[in-house]
Amino acid sequence: MTTAMRSSKLFTRGLLSRGLSLSCAARILLRTPSRSAQLSTAAAPVRKLGQPTHETHPHLLKAGEVTPGITAIEYALRRSQLAASLPEGGIAVIPSSIIKYRSGPVFYEFHQDPDFFYLTGFLEPESVAVIEKTGPEGEHTFHLFVRGKEAHAELWEGSRTGIEGAMEVFNADKAYDVDHLQYHISPIIQAAKTVYVDVPSQSQSQHTVFFGATKGTTLISALEGKRTQPLKPAMHRLRITKSGAEATVMRKAGKMSGRAYNKAMAQDFLTEKDLASYLEYEFKAGGCDGSAYVPVVAGGENALTIHYTNNNNILRDGDLVLVDAGGHYGGYVTDITRTWPVSGRFTAAQKDLYNAVLTVQRNCVKLCRADAGLSLDEIHHVAEDGLRQELLRLGFDLSGNALGNVLFPHHVGHYVGVDLHDCGTYGRRAPLTAGQVITVEPGVYVPNNSRWPKHFRGMGIRIEDSVYVGEENPIVLSVEAVKEVDDIEALREE
Ligand code: GLY
Ligand code: MN
Ligand code: MN
Repeated sequence: MTTAMRSSKLFTRGLLSRGLSLSCAARILLRTPSRSAQLSTAAAPVRKLGQPTHETHPHLLKAGEVTPGITAIEYALRRSQLAASLPEGGIAVIPSSIIKYRSGPVFYEFHQDPDFFYLTGFLEPESVAVIEKTGPEGEHTFHLFVRGKEAHAELWEGSRTGIEGAMEVFNADKAYDVDHLQYHISPIIQAAKTVYVDVPSQSQSQHTVFFGATKGTTLISALEGKRTQPLKPAMHRLRITKSGAEATVMRKAGKMSGRAYNKAMAQDFLTEKDLASYLEYEFKAGGCDGSAYVPVVAGGENALTIHYTNNNNILRDGDLVLVDAGGHYGGYVTDITRTWPVSGRFTAAQKDLYNAVLTVQRNCVKLCRADAGLSLDEIHHVAEDGLRQELLRLGFDLSGNALGNVLFPHHVGHYVGVDLHDCGTYGRRAPLTAGQVITVEPGVYVPNNSRWPKHFRGMGIRIEDSVYVGEENPIVLSVEAVKEVDDIEALREE
């Protein structure tokens, strides 16, 4: 079986295998397309919403998709799975993000709240989703509060989806103008036995920063006196296992990002800034929506700062450059690190230390399969043991926990998905299961002082891939980005 065949077999893992009963899924499947399909009929006028649709942007979305690669049916199944996980009489309240301002009228690029995105695919700010459990098998009422259509505001800011669109395209059972949040949400909250919602603890002002000033205050007062439970753990249990469609979207993000890396490794750059700008451009040109996070582009000793993001120094021949960057696509991120010589050719010492990290990285990637039965923490210990062996062989003195304190001070990996560090409440102690996506990112950072072997001083090397956990095999989602010494050097020679 080829790797591609194996991947497609693993990626076709259905949502139904994630514990939702068939009868419940069938009810959703019967219900959902009828509404979405209204927009697909040839005679229907093309309606502009607050985000791309297949009708307005067929180059971005296939029929039936709400966001790239993820259909309305999959979103409905996710809501149903969440409802199934709530106790009887439970509701989940999920506010969207708000627009955040940098200074005066200048806003930051909008980023949707990951849980809200996961459940709705709705990309507008100032919205609230409520999932009200109504039966034991995932039956629920999906309430969606959205910004109403407003000609004047839309003239300045572009189209909004509005209440009708919220029902017809996003399959809300009930949709409301968010300006009437208090009036409509209070009775739903009051009728619930338990409300699952993530409100930041401490002061009210923090709540309003989180939810948006006016609506935040409204939501907080609607919740007053009600017993609430955190929603995140339930959301993270859902999000931790990726569906086939999610895995396919993440594979695309990895492929497009990996190709951008190869293009970057094939070129000379004079500065960290030039390299960072090039990569950012290539992520987008290759099909990603943008950079998933502020990249690390660290020449020479800058790589010893794990989260170096100044990216404003000169790149020097003879140094390595460490780049931790990735594109995001369709709401999912990829996380990649490569380290390569600025000149295109490794020195003997660079090659030795690089291959030490690469050996460990490869060995850890091999363990990213369900049948290995290991957790991320256990793979971390494998990485530590591997690096210990490799570094002792290279003449390092590792006394005094030098490895964990100095040379390899971070974890070998984390879950990745709609968030870069995905599903934080899930922890790293549970054995990996098929359908999870994690990073594998061992590194070695050698301070420039006499404590360390001379020829390795000042080097920082990390190698990171985003990896899909299969039943029997890992699938490296960022496999396009080359990492063998010969392959990296060959890129420049070409
Ligand atoms: N790019 C951040 C990380 O690797 O976790
Ligand atoms: Mn990472
Ligand atoms: Mn990274």
